[in-house]
Amino acid sequence: MIVKKFNTVLYKVKSPQNVGMIIRSHVAFDGNKVIFVGYDTPWDFKQGSQAFSRKLEKKCIIENYYDENEFFEWSKKNNYKNIAIEIGKKSKSIIGYEFNNDSNLIVGNEGKGIPEEFLLKCDEILFIPQFGQVQCLNVAVSASLALFEFAKNNNSGTNKIEGSKFDIEL
Ligand SMILES: C[S@@+](CC[C@H](N)C(=O)[O-])C[C@H]1O[C@@H](n2cnc3c(N)ncnc32)[C@H](O)[C@@H]1O
Repeated sequence: MIVKKFNTVLYKVKSPQNVGMIIRSHVAFDGNKVIFVGYDTPWDFKQGSQAFSRKLEKKCIIENYYDENEFFEWSKKNNYKNIAIEIGKKSKSIIGYEFNNDSNLIVGNEGKGIPEEFLLKCDEILFIPQFGQVQCLNVAVSASLALFEFAKNNNSGTNKIEGSKFDIEL
């Protein structure tokens, strides 16, 4: 099996807690890079983030694209499929979606989501089905579910941690 890799892309996610949780899931699901898009300065991992990331950002390759066009140029050059995780009229369900390419999985800002102009530049838009009465999920929850969906069919199965709780053969 050829294992595909994913980068986790945060589009203007603002809350330190959410950033921390996304980092933790990124590491748990064996992501490649963490990419911040649309920020003025590199993300400063203070205590608010680290309480949730468990300082796992130290294990991550982190890149910043202040200008979103530079991000799209970089992803094109490196053959990454841009998959926005977002609710919208043009979104497809993530259930049964086959992740067959190296991909950027992109989640959006807590208040405004991912803007339409940005979504138009993406190759795919996927929504996570919701079954109860709420408008949307928390962004870190959305990222975690999407990363898991990608990783479950695209992992090398070698990440067990001997002597820890997760000492489980995949
Ligand atoms: C709290 S939501 C943004 C809500 C915002 N008020 C809006 O109208 O777009 C933050 C991010 O979580 C993700 N998200 C939340 N629920 C989702 C769902 N059911 N499917 C896919 N993505 C979701 C998207 O990436 C979204 O940009």
